[in-house]
Amino acid sequence: MLKTFSVIFLLVSLTAVSSCYYDNAEQLYGTGGTCDSTATWTLDVQPMIQSQCLGCHQGASASGGLDLSTHANVQNSALNGSLLDRIQRGAGDPLAMPPSGPLSNCSQAKVRVWERGGALPN
Ligand code: HEC
Repeated sequence: MLKTFSVIFLLVSLTAVSSCYYDNAEQLYGTGGTCDSTATWTLDVQPMIQSQCLGCHQGASASGGLDLSTHANVQNSALNGSLLDRIQRGAGDPLAMPPSGPLSNCSQAKVRVWERGGALPN
């Protein structure tokens, strides 16, 4: 009985610990802290684009004529340099994206890593 309880307790603890792994980078690292050096489209870049960019960059009336709702379009902006150019501009620069204020250092680093790897749909 005690043994069964211990096993269940262990499983619950492991689940709790491993679920933290999937939290987004901002929650894990804050805006200035360290940041792991891996980045994928699915886990990092797409969720960031969705929450920070699609409000303006989507559909027929997308801001600047730039629709970021598909991987192909985001990859294109990444590889032509405009994506990083805009997100790395300082607050107050009229061309900075998103206009409301810069992404966390960690999010910016993730986009750099992803772009360097070829901006793949990974
Ligand atoms: C509040 C609305 C808004 C949000 C949110 C926003 N943008 Fe923009 N974006 C604009 C507007 C308006 C323009 C066109 C004016 C300009 O070029 O600055 C633009 C232009 C751009 C351009 C240049 C397009 C071109 O072809 O010249 C890029 C790249 C860009 N945004 C990337 C992003 C990214 C990446 C995000 C999210 C991190 C983002 N934007 C979030 C409004 C927004």
